[in-house]
Amino acid sequence: MTRGSLLVDHIGELVTNDGRDGDPLGIRRDAALLVEDGQVAWIGSARYAPAADRRIDAGGAAVLPGFVDSHAHLVFAGDRATEFAARMAGEPYTGGGIRTTVGATRAASDDDLRATVGRLRAEMLRQGTTTVEIKSGYGLTVADEARSLRIAAEFTEDTTFLGAHVVPAEYADRPDDYVGMVCGPMLAAAAPYARWIDVFCERGAFDADHARAILACGQAAGLGVRLHANQLGPGPGVRLGVELGAASVDHCTHLTDADVDALAGSETVATLLPGAEFSTRSPYPDARRLLDAGVTVALATDCNPGSSYTSSMPFCVALAVREMRMTPAEAVWAATAGGAAALRRTDVGRLTPGARADLIILDAPSHLHLAYRPGVPLIRQVLHNGVPR
Ligand code: NIG
Ligand code: FE
Repeated sequence: MTRGSLLVDHIGELVTNDGRDGDPLGIRRDAALLVEDGQVAWIGSARYAPAADRRIDAGGAAVLPGFVDSHAHLVFAGDRATEFAARMAGEPYTGGGIRTTVGATRAASDDDLRATVGRLRAEMLRQGTTTVEIKSGYGLTVADEARSLRIAAEFTEDTTFLGAHVVPAEYADRPDDYVGMVCGPMLAAAAPYARWIDVFCERGAFDADHARAILACGQAAGLGVRLHANQLGPGPGVRLGVELGAASVDHCTHLTDADVDALAGSETVATLLPGAEFSTRSPYPDARRLLDAGVTVALATDCNPGSSYTSSMPFCVALAVREMRMTPAEAVWAATAGGAAALRRTDVGRLTPGARADLIILDAPSHLHLAYRPGVPLIRQVLHNGVPR
């Protein structure tokens, strides 16, 4: 790692997310930021910038925390472009294609899987993502789930065991046996490589009883809880997540008032994944309703070969603003501080002294441009752990 101090100077607009003065983005103008040992060491007016070993001139551009993509399925083989084409020709998304990816993933070598994760991780970094959560869930055997997580752990601290993605074909007529296997040998093999446990709680995947049993086993093994909930229709997932103290419930596309109330009275983050609605041509979740109720909202890509094959947080920010009634400021907060909250992390998603020096220098004067200029490569430079990428 590069040693010595680094000053990012001439920042026209610095998004700190420090929540000061009632401005959630904690914006500072004409600012500078000093990096030491991979952390933010000082923030202040450019006029008082301290000397440093090296300097990056932001030239009046906006600087914001690196994106925290708290929901991604990167360990897989193959793609499902044909399924996407069929959807765009009118077929509905049911999640049935997950089994296609499971077949391809089981047949792939470790090196092939590692190469795919590496390629997608690099793609994300180029688009400003400095923290990513990575799930298993396309192995669905003891060995394939364990190796998926072992490979994921080479790329992130936030690994998630999703053995309960769907019931694989070989267990189709005995789902109880599959749940027993997930809670037993599969969890035992996966837990050493996982920080989190997740379940796809949805009609056609796992019902509330199965989800509760699996998540409780994961909690007993020391894993934190998150889950896929209320994506394809209304259901018990969101309230189950709140009941279990989940860090996040993800998708939240179909919510009742009771779901919103439960979230509003909890510490559970609602993570919205607009790439999935875009790629399945589905109605978007109503972020405004959640925000107005006081729920903490995060945005993530859900990057996966089926329902959302995008690695782009800027794209998700633009969708959230245009389609989900979020303001640009709310969307940028949700893609940075919101993602950090969904991963229960305080070291990322903000640019305050002591935080990790993960930041984006935009090719634009303001965070507004992320939604205002959709599809434009606005990420000029990324610092990850204080190291320019
Ligand atoms: O989050 N909903 C479940 N899992 C993924 C989709 C996986 C797939 O279609 O391959 C999701 O959208
Ligand atoms: Fe997902």
